[in-house]
Amino acid sequence: MQQVQSYQEVIAHNIAQLKLPATPENLYAPLRYFLSLGGKRTRPALTLLGCSLFGTPGIKAINAAIAVELFHNFTLIHDDIMDDAPLRRGKQTVHEKWNRDIAILSGDVLFVEAYSYLSKNEGDVLPKLMTVFNTTAKEVCEGQQMDMDFESSDVITISDYIEMIRLKTSVLLGAALKMGAIVAQEDNENNIQNIYDFGVNIGLAFQLHDDILDVYADPSKFGKQVGGDILSNKKTFLLLKAFELADTATANQLSNLLKNGSGKQKVENVTAIYNQIGVKEAAEQQKQTFYRKALANMAAIDISDEHKKPLLSLAEYLMSRDH
Ligand code: IPE
Ligand code: IPE
Ligand code: MG
Ligand code: MG
Ligand code: MG
Repeated sequence: MQQVQSYQEVIAHNIAQLKLPATPENLYAPLRYFLSLGGKRTRPALTLLGCSLFGTPGIKAINAAIAVELFHNFTLIHDDIMDDAPLRRGKQTVHEKWNRDIAILSGDVLFVEAYSYLSKNEGDVLPKLMTVFNTTAKEVCEGQQMDMDFESSDVITISDYIEMIRLKTSVLLGAALKMGAIVAQEDNENNIQNIYDFGVNIGLAFQLHDDILDVYADPSKFGKQVGGDILSNKKTFLLLKAFELADTATANQLSNLLKNGSGKQKVENVTAIYNQIGVKEAAEQQKQTFYRKALANMAAIDISDEHKKPLLSLAEYLMSRDH
């Protein structure tokens, strides 16, 4: 993890350097606040690691990496409005601390800032990065729309869920790595496809882990509201699996909780059903399946095992994170 940590420090340093005007205060103060809360900086680390994997110093991809992280932060500010989330990174969300209009507009500025960083790249690297970034940004919006649509639908299948999380979460991890490979001017198409697929499969496992944490995390470490997904009827793997495995009486109980339950009691009762059915274990198994696929993608990349170590250690950490 040494390489990963030193990259995360470089990223934190660069984000702290971001120059934002003083006024309008209500536009820029929320961004200074949000960016100072940190986060794991996973995606920009992937970009730097994706670059160094192919033999170019990771630091060359710093502008692409910052663009990816700013884009991610923009999606979080808007996601918290959509999910009605009170907490993020252990602190109040932007729309709670200020208001929704402010959260929308300050999020928009971050999206533009992401493009400013992206456009610092030169030559034929820039249009290639732009294509990956734009495709991915649209896919994230598609996934987020599906996530919202699914809240009020009761016909969602596990394969719909996988497609939704592929779009809202996983493609960004794949793109982060691929952008690093592009900066490194990697020209082996097979390697590029495999590093992207590695990221997507890690991303699928990452979102499954996120769904598990949303129910089972230690609130003092998680930094987000535990039970948020249950409160908003998110069609997570846990919920869909519970419906799949429940007997008729339990399935009716669960449907009733989704329709009429609220607050702490709803979270407790749904969690009790999850525990009774054992959906956490089922989600862990599905997570491991994606993790193994990711490892197979990595094994198929034509680079020495030594060079793969930092990325593999980051991936391993992500599978057991507590926040
Ligand atoms: C949160 O991402 C959004 C999801 C896709 C689950 P992270 O868990 O990477 O959030 P930060 O950036 O570390 O706060
Ligand atoms: C968010 O998924 C994915 C994006 C922000 C695009 P979640 O809604 O599960 O993320 P958290 O749990 O709020 O971080
Ligand atoms: Mg969401
Ligand atoms: Mg959310
Ligand atoms: Mg979540």
